[in-house]
Amino acid sequence: MIFPERLNAAVEANAQKYDRRELVKAASAISEKYRAERGDGSRLVTKACETAAYAAVRMPATFAAVSTALSHALGSVRCDIETAADIGAGTGAAGWAAAELIDTLTELYCCEREPGMRELGRSLMSEAEIGVKAEWCGFDAAADTLPRSFDLVIMSYTLNELSETDRDRAIEMLWEKTDKLLLIVEPGTKTGYANILKARERLIKVGANIACPCPGNCSCPLPADDWCHFTARAQRTKLHKQLKGGDVPYEDEKFSCIAAAKCDVSPCERRILRHPQISGGFVDLHLCTANGIEDMRVTKSSKLFKAARKADCGDDI
Ligand SMILES: C[S@@+](CC[C@H](N)C(=O)[O-])C[C@H]1O[C@@H](n2cnc3c(N)ncnc32)[C@H](O)[C@@H]1O
Repeated sequence: MIFPERLNAAVEANAQKYDRRELVKAASAISEKYRAERGDGSRLVTKACETAAYAAVRMPATFAAVSTALSHALGSVRCDIETAADIGAGTGAAGWAAAELIDTLTELYCCEREPGMRELGRSLMSEAEIGVKAEWCGFDAAADTLPRSFDLVIMSYTLNELSETDRDRAIEMLWEKTDKLLLIVEPGTKTGYANILKARERLIKVGANIACPCPGNCSCPLPADDWCHFTARAQRTKLHKQLKGGDVPYEDEKFSCIAAAKCDVSPCERRILRHPQISGGFVDLHLCTANGIEDMRVTKSSKLFKAARKADCGDDI
């Protein structure tokens, strides 16, 4: 899923309001703060310049991650989605991903604690015309409760900013306010995956059907020194290159995720956990299955060969 051109134009227009050197500094300060993975509820992006830098350097990557996770999740559930809530919405990446992917979506409710993020998110949606009715509200996921329930609830790259106690409370509240599908996306780090695993266990306990990425509600078969994460590719804009340096035309964003449903699900049989190793006559796949982790060599004679050659890490097969 490509970051919408009209959204990119609005992000760039907003960035023009700030001195370029200040933006470069802000982009690097944001990276440092996120790398620390403090998970203690502190406020990380508060200044207007940091908010503009977030939209320029992080939003395309989080949009790509949520788009990828959401499209896998939607492929595993049988339900129509008309309303969605985005908690810890930041500048609106997850809401944009939902609006781009779900034709039936009519209403989006974006909840965000930081006034600056909220203001920019709201103005990007209105200037770039997201195409669904979008409402923004001040909201603290550690203390507040959604005023009503939604077909789809998304929390992306936010769970890891809450303290441990607040994470548990937030997951319970989000699940209670989910009518059909709850999607949580976290950075594809060991810490992000640990948060996802804990959320997954909690959701299974309260009766959730795991839609993706797992092959059902079975216990996670990964060994303790491994972690489940996938990659989403985001094209880098000229502004992104100016603020973050380097010339590579794309950025590979690593993420972990869990999609839990109240509607019927058809989870995958096998999820590809590593980039497939392709040789002339075969493809080696490292897979998560309901029976555990499996390594599979798909040869030319297999009916899976064509799909395996085209498959990517994170796909089901
Ligand atoms: C890394 S950003 C992610 C933003 C957006 N979801 C995305 O994927 O690009 C985390 C966002 O969560 C917000 N946040 C952190 N703690 C929060 C809380 N307790 N309640 C609501 N929002 C919170 C932050 O202000 C920030 O906008």
